Amino acid sequence: MQESLQLTEAVQAQRAWRMPDMVVYQHSHEEWWLAPLEDTLPLVKINRIGANLLAAMDGKATVKSLLSSFGPRVCGPSGETGRWCLERWSLPKYSLCFFGAEPPKKDRGDARWDLLLQQIREGWSGNPEFEGEHHLSQFHTHDITTDEDHFDTIETTVSHLFREPSEAMGGQTYGRLLAKHLRKLGWWDRKPRFIIEVGGGLGYVARELAAGLSPQEREGRYIFLDITGPFLKAQLSRGREAGWAAEAIQANGEWLPFKPASVDIVIDNENLADMTPVKLTKREIESGTGDTPHHQEAIEWIRRMKLSLGNEMPDEFMFNLGPIRFVAELWRVLKPGGRAILVEFGIEEGFAAPVKLPGHTEYEVQYSHLRHAARFLGFHEKYGALPQFFNMKPDTRVLCTGAAYAIRRFCRADGKSFAIRAYTEGELNRALGDMAEKLTGHHYHDIMDPAWFGLWDFKVLLLEKPTPAPKPASPPIREVKGFRWGGMR
Ligand SMILES: C[S@@+](CC[C@H](N)C(=O)[O-])C[C@H]1O[C@@H](n2cnc3c(N)ncnc32)[C@H](O)[C@@H]1O
Repeated sequence: MQESLQLTEAVQAQRAWRMPDMVVYQHSHEEWWLAPLEDTLPLVKINRIGANLLAAMDGKATVKSLLSSFGPRVCGPSGETGRWCLERWSLPKYSLCFFGAEPPKKDRGDARWDLLLQQIREGWSGNPEFEGEHHLSQFHTHDITTDEDHFDTIETTVSHLFREPSEAMGGQTYGRLLAKHLRKLGWWDRKPRFIIEVGGGLGYVARELAAGLSPQEREGRYIFLDITGPFLKAQLSRGREAGWAAEAIQANGEWLPFKPASVDIVIDNENLADMTPVKLTKREIESGTGDTPHHQEAIEWIRRMKLSLGNEMPDEFMFNLGPIRFVAELWRVLKPGGRAILVEFGIEEGFAAPVKLPGHTEYEVQYSHLRHAARFLGFHEKYGALPQFFNMKPDTRVLCTGAAYAIRRFCRADGKSFAIRAYTEGELNRALGDMAEKLTGHHYHDIMDPAWFGLWDFKVLLLEKPTPAPKPASPPIREVKGFRWGGMR
């Protein structure tokens, strides 16, 4: 049972806006479907009167006037009244409309509705407090019991959205473009014998990376290392089908189970935000003493690498301990000349903020800290925005991901399959066939619009462990009276 909203005098005085992002599916002549934001709630089915109620939520009507026109009328096929709808639709779990004195703030231009939705999503899906240093590793090791639908419902990734050939990627996939760019950077000049992919999700990056390489280029061992047991099966089967000599290890990437200087290439795609965060205090930094062993470890890192935390250190702030441990492990396991690519969303200034997702909270990567750590360890590093790295066309328009989720629910309820992807309009119409014309309210974003997927926030960090400087050249060998001098020391 869902708690419903009390339609008090104060609520009734507010005006009602239907969410413009909401997708409506006309299932039959007299029945329309709406998808609440919370997946576990059933689809909302409405009749023509319900559709009129929805249309009347135009920002002019007050809740009071809607209640008086629609309150007792039957709006849904199971007898739901207008009052029933008004008591629920504005709740964050439904997010079908918004009640307020003013429309949501205009501070971010057209993105405002999307940001509101995002705030709602963040608000309901997680614990507002810091969930602790072990929260993310526990979520991955214990709470994920199946790979089914994980990247279509719990979280999605850029590489997942572009796992099939996509117009936005010039007809390529994420993994194939990755292969192309890494090859161009010389990563396959010395044939890699030992490649590790950390946090490989469902194995699409490995599959597509293989597709972008020749059979000779993928002759080395390819090890999947993931903390989440249920994902490893999918990684292995996709990796092997694609032609990798693949193996799998369940482990935490913060402690890599490999020998020093044994690895040629490490791929870590959209995983850093899942690694251990710690919440430090200004007091701990100033005293140099952490309240817990994790805090002490973070403080030691900050001290050893002389990391500046800026002049305006807040009383409490998040620090990416896990990613720093990971980069230190990369330094240990990579061969001289070995390389790693790390892709994740993040920031360059300030301190990491939480990103609430169903069942877990991830943390932005503070890239100036991470790059500082990489340089401190001795890495050569290069850094840039993901869309730039992939030369993505900024004006390609792709389907809003919220709309993709709603369409997927409608398809499921209709017994059809629908994959969550970054569809252009043409791609969506081809995927949906006749169903496309029965959908309204879905919209497209420029791929660089922050309201789409925040693509610009995704960064690529390339690390290279330098080869040791060559020994000074030996002095030229001279022959003096039959003896060789100079070459011997
Ligand atoms: C957001 S998913 C990204 C999956 C995939 N790379 C992609 O691009 O779609 C994060 C992945 O990292 C794994 N992971 C999370 N924390 C990890 C850790 N500490 N060590 C190793 N793997 C981890 C998860 O199980 C998952 O496979």
